[in-house]
Amino acid sequence: MADLSVNIAGIDSPNPFWLASAPPTNTGDQIARAFDAGWGGAVWKTLGEPIENTYSRYSSVDINGQRMMGLNNIELITDRTLEDNLIEIAEVKRRYPDNAVIVSLMVESNPEAWDTIIKQVEQAGADGIELNFGCPHGMSERGMGAAVGQVPEYTCDITTWAVSSATVPVFVKLTPNITDIRAASRAALKGGADAVSLINTINSITGVDLDTMVPRPVVGDKSSHGGYCGPAVKPIALHMVSQIAADPETDGLPISGIGGIATWQDAAEYILLGATTVQVCTAVMHYGYRIVEGMIEGLSNYLDSKGMASVNELRGLSVGKVTDWAHLDINYVIKANIDQDKCIGCGLCYISCQDGAHQAIGAERSGDRTRVWIIEDACVGCNLCSLVCPVQGCITMQERDYGQTHMTWVEYTGDEPPGELYPRPKHGLTIGG
Ligand SMILES: Cc1cc2nc3c(=O)[nH]c(=O)nc-3n(C[C@H](O)[C@H](O)[C@H](O)COP(=O)(O)O)c2cc1C
Repeated sequence: MADLSVNIAGIDSPNPFWLASAPPTNTGDQIARAFDAGWGGAVWKTLGEPIENTYSRYSSVDINGQRMMGLNNIELITDRTLEDNLIEIAEVKRRYPDNAVIVSLMVESNPEAWDTIIKQVEQAGADGIELNFGCPHGMSERGMGAAVGQVPEYTCDITTWAVSSATVPVFVKLTPNITDIRAASRAALKGGADAVSLINTINSITGVDLDTMVPRPVVGDKSSHGGYCGPAVKPIALHMVSQIAADPETDGLPISGIGGIATWQDAAEYILLGATTVQVCTAVMHYGYRIVEGMIEGLSNYLDSKGMASVNELRGLSVGKVTDWAHLDINYVIKANIDQDKCIGCGLCYISCQDGAHQAIGAERSGDRTRVWIIEDACVGCNLCSLVCPVQGCITMQERDYGQTHMTWVEYTGDEPPGELYPRPKHGLTIGG
């Protein structure tokens, strides 16, 4: 069986699956139960000056019966005393010496405050610390969290303070509420960070109660913007992870990937795009600690199927497969194909292609079904029909070889001899239906 153990910034972990700093890592008892379930590491719920939370703190977006596609929260850092947390960190580390215990920290922006708390958590036995420069609500209004992470100079300065106080590795947790994530990761590295973790939550309002007209989550007669996470944010986080992994200015900076991870496939995608460990919050809030069992088994089987002896062989293999649009082959051609045996005749592909894409599907009513077919010459291979089709495997995209040669936009002069550039379909065709 493939070896899942990893080392990130000098910290060993039996597997890449960590809990993110959040309610699932609020107490020592929870983290102990998580380690018993199989989690390799945990980032302790952010410690600092204990706060008061509001009643009602979460709201979510459900899509077609899938609950919590996106989760929003207005929760702050820990509301438990530092003393209690330090005792529990020491106890967890004593009982689970082989698991990674990282402690997330957020204090006011002065070197003494950072120095004091870093020494305390190190003494308790933390394997590493994570600087929370990411929370987008509440703490940012007090000059902490995203208020630091959104300004590269502050990120660099506070990282420098933390690194000069710490003897254990320092992770910097980045906010996605920024134009270019690389400005933040470069600033963290400049400040001496040993690794970055991303993403923290995305600014959001999930909805409005149409009776009371108060946005959610409701606190009395008001609400506040919160932080969005869960499956909905994974694509945004994956992109940011890949940007940092590909950035020559932060080459080699280890990454702990976070955002919408619920399965081994999600984790494998993060690792392929450059992450060494992955962190999970929403999926555990939804389904509990035991989801890690399937993640461990699934990732092991996947590595075995790829002939890889270690998860480390997987890391970063997809980073070089992300390129600028200008370097894509504009002569690569695929066309949609409908498997008539699988088609249920709903006509959705026809409607979406007709109104929302390229008018490349013909249709005719046949009893209570809609018979559909691809108009090969009009099809631009955009994928939309295969994305909307409700039947798995009914519409597939198939490559066409017209003898065309590979050509990128950079190479394209606009004056290619006939045959050099695959002739584009012309729009405005009159189609059947
Ligand atoms: C209720 C809640 C509380 C959170 N508290 C913290 C926190 O104290 N410190 C922190 O760094 N991130 C905090 N986060 C953010 C998560 O650690 C994580 O970055 C984010 O939820 C994305 O991961 P996910 O999609 O798996 O939930 C919190 C998230 C939620 C939902």
